Amino acid sequence: MQNQLRHEILPNQSHDERARQAFAQSLKLHLAAKVVQGNRDVYERRVRPEFERQQGRPPKDRREVAGGMRKEPYYQLWGALQRTSQEICWNSVLESIERQLPDMAQRAQPPENPIGSLTLDTSVEQPIYMSALDIHCMPGGYATERMADDVSAGALYDRGVYIYAMGGFGADNGAMGRTTIDVFRQLFPDRSPLRILDLGCTVGHSTLPWAEAYPGADVHAVDVSASVLRYGHARSEALGVEVNFRQANAERLPYEDASFDLIVSHILLHETSTKAIRNILAECHRLLKPNGVTLHVDLSLYGGMDPFEAFMLDWDTQANNEPFWTAYREMDPKTLMTDAGFTAESVVSAHISRTGLAAHVFSDNRDAGGRKNWQCIGAVKAAKLETSETVA
Ligand SMILES: C[S@@+](CC[C@H](N)C(=O)[O-])C[C@H]1O[C@@H](n2cnc3c(N)ncnc32)[C@H](O)[C@@H]1O
Repeated sequence: MQNQLRHEILPNQSHDERARQAFAQSLKLHLAAKVVQGNRDVYERRVRPEFERQQGRPPKDRREVAGGMRKEPYYQLWGALQRTSQEICWNSVLESIERQLPDMAQRAQPPENPIGSLTLDTSVEQPIYMSALDIHCMPGGYATERMADDVSAGALYDRGVYIYAMGGFGADNGAMGRTTIDVFRQLFPDRSPLRILDLGCTVGHSTLPWAEAYPGADVHAVDVSASVLRYGHARSEALGVEVNFRQANAERLPYEDASFDLIVSHILLHETSTKAIRNILAECHRLLKPNGVTLHVDLSLYGGMDPFEAFMLDWDTQANNEPFWTAYREMDPKTLMTDAGFTAESVVSAHISRTGLAAHVFSDNRDAGGRKNWQCIGAVKAAKLETSETVA
């Protein structure tokens, strides 16, 4: 397996820390490649026949699958191992970060002549959907400040997500951005956006590929967390990529109307809430120039999905501190986009089947557990604005 791309800000690892992190990654890979599939056998051989015997028909949705599956010892064992692997993954990284916190904050100080920028705003507060719990069991979530000029949440995400994704987001964790660029180019082959905004950028894993793909573009990236932005700015400077990072809530953005050609997000929406998604998409509509495009890559939606697969995907809501994961998957792209002001004809929805994601585990549109992975939803702002709208 490839190693993570090293850059000046990536936390160092001692021999023992490296060994623990390698174990966490191998355990995750083993569960994804060898163990999770056993649940399908349990379902086909025991749970489904028993349901059919009682009801005279197969389960029609994930809730009906859940009744039988949750009682199965194999499912319980897999779930316990999966949860344990999450905790080991984050903890193996956190202990190495805590040891080098002051040094990392020092290394992440912005250079004298940065090529990009970092704008922090202490008045921006964490929304409740972030502060109420440690998302996907990541200790402290994205916005915990452990010291002045803290970068620890950014460091934890950078290293931790590489292990979490089993290296499947690429050496630079950038495959999600590159994949969305592919989708954009396939859908809009003649476009070359000049002003791009990435929402919920964390440390810029997906933002940097956009800046590299469109070198003349003015690339902006926002997040509510100062810690991830400090780290992200230092990382992009270390990698020599120009990005303007800003602390802001994507539900209420500090940019002028009609000021971007393209607005994207990568795995942001499912970590917010129904209300927040509606606010974020309405902001996209406000901020796009006429004919501008918005694209959001995130979890695959449940529409049309096999009930067993949908049930398996629910696990993260039940056991991995992903409270909104299921609710997001139940949404309908057309309703979301038209409610935000886009026309129904302009809505796009693309399953990502040819991806650079986790090539060693995933094939086509599935991962090793048979689970569908990503879906890109979006829309184009009407070229002619309604009379009630104003253009800056
Ligand atoms: C899963 S991470 C996104 C990963 C990142 N886009 C990438 O591709 O690497 C979710 C991020 O969204 C941020 N976030 C959540 N709600 C937000 C909001 N309302 N406004 C801005 N950022 C938000 C979190 O702080 C976190 O950094």
